[in-house]
Order: sequence, then C-alpha cells, then structure tokens
Amino acid sequence: MSTHPNQALELGVLGTGRMGTRLAAMFARAGRRVILGSRDCDRAQAIVDALDLPTLRAGCYADAVRAPAILPALFMRDGLLDQLEPYCASLKSKLLIDISNPFNADYSDFITPWDSSGAEELQRRFPQAQVVGAFKNVFWEVFDHPQFDQQLSDVLVMGDNEDAKAAFLQLTEGTPFRYLDAGPLMRSRTIERLTFITSSLGQQLNSYPRMNWRLLTQEAPKAA
Ligand SMILES: NC(=O)c1ccc[n+]([C@@H]2O[C@H](COP(=O)([O-])OP(=O)(O)OC[C@H]3O[C@@H](n4cnc5c(N)ncnc54)[C@H](OP(=O)(O)O)[C@@H]3O)[C@@H](O)[C@H]2O)c1
Repeated sequence: MSTHPNQALELGVLGTGRMGTRLAAMFARAGRRVILGSRDCDRAQAIVDALDLPTLRAGCYADAVRAPAILPALFMRDGLLDQLEPYCASLKSKLLIDISNPFNADYSDFITPWDSSGAEELQRRFPQAQVVGAFKNVFWEVFDHPQFDQQLSDVLVMGDNEDAKAAFLQLTEGTPFRYLDAGPLMRSRTIERLTFITSSLGQQLNSYPRMNWRLLTQEAPKAA
C-alpha cells in the first residue's frame, strides 16, 4: 500500500493548552501522525487517551521535537524561546510552525518591539530552523466550530522559505481552513497585532472567542 506524502510528515506539538491540544487533534483528524508533547508526559497521555485518535500519540517535549515538523504552542512570556533552547540541535533544517502572539501577562500589549514579531524572534533565536507563521488570528474555540455560515475562515501564512511554506501547506491538507500566503515572515508584525483588533471586535459583537477573518473577494474584470 502506498503512503501519501503528508502522512509521512510527522508533527510534534509542544504544550497541552487551548491551542496545542486542538491543533494536535485537528492535524490527527486530517490523517497526519502527531505527537502531543507536554512538560508532564502523563498530562499529554490523559489528553491523547480521551481524544482516542489513531494517529495521535503522547510524549514529552523531547519526544515531540524529534518530529520533522514542530509546532510549539506556548506563550513567549512563559519562556517559549528558552524552553526550546535545550532542543536546538533537533531543530536543524526543520519546519518550525510559529503560532505565537507575544502578549504580556494582562494581554494589554506585546513583549516584542514594534519592529519585530514573535515569528521573527523565533527565527532569530533558531536560525537553523525554517519558521513558518500561521494560526495567529484563530482563537481556540474556532477549532471546535470551524464553519462560519458554511464557509471556512482564513489562516494567514508567513515565511521566508518557500519550501517550508509548501511543506506546511502539505501538512494542512484536509484541515478545515482556507490558507492564504501572506508573504514574508516580517508580515507577522502586522498579522500578530491584528489579533488585538479581532479580539476587541469579537467582544463588541458578542462572539468572542468564536470569530475569525475571511477575506471577501469578487472576480476582477478582465483587462481590455
Ligand atoms: N488562545 C488562542 O486563542 C490563541 C490564538 C492564536 C495563537 N495563540 C498562541 O498560541 C500559544 C499558546 O496559547 P494557548 O492559549 O494555547 O496557551 P495556554 O492554554 O496557556 O497553553 C500553553 C501551554 O504551554 C505549556 N507551558 C510551558 N511552559 C509554561 C509555563 N511556564 N506556564 C504555563 N504554561 C506553560 C503548557 O503545556 P504543558 O504543561 O503541557 O507543557 C500550557 O498548557 C501562544 O503563543 C499564543 O499566543 C493562542
């Protein structure tokens, strides 16, 4: 029996919080092999047992970083960069999927300067990896209800390495979002900060945290 190429691309997720658990489940439901890693392996095991998905298994961070694609689902303020440091040798040439919005403790501001972003800080700290930013504006409960009036919402994808972006898109095949190439990693400065606006609009519309963007488009007229 032949194996589909994206089944071979295993994903390691670090962190069993709101995003890590849901992203691990989403990718496993799409048929990817996923290892959900935690600081506490027993916590990951209990979540994996409850989810009961055939391609999802549990481990610690050290197990998750062995996968060829790695998605840390930790806050930068909780030491995302320092917690990856012990595994820096494992990151060489790997796809490192960055979902971080570098909020401070009370969510009033970012801990990164205006001329940087979570994604760029991660790439700067681990230049041996290929960072692709994604899921920045997707709030955790959207993964539980990904349809909006029968439409899928958008995930903006940023990265400086086209092969890494292509590998990321291959990994996402069959997941319930529309993925749009938002350009280089530097665009994360704007896209991460868009999360502030999404959050405040969602609260005004009594939808928080179940809201996401979809760019509405019309076909452009043909040039004469
Ligand atoms: N929440 C959202 O809607 C959302 C949307 C887009 C992007 N993001 C980004 O996704 C990342 C994770 O967000 P989240 O909402 O999933 O966070 P969360 O629910 O707080 O989970 C974070 C996980 O990080 C791990 N962790 C490692 N060190 C930690 C420490 N010192 N203190 C607390 N937790 C620690 C824990 O997992 P273990 O104990 O299993 O290791 C924890 O469950 C962040 O970078 C955030 O900006 C979040």
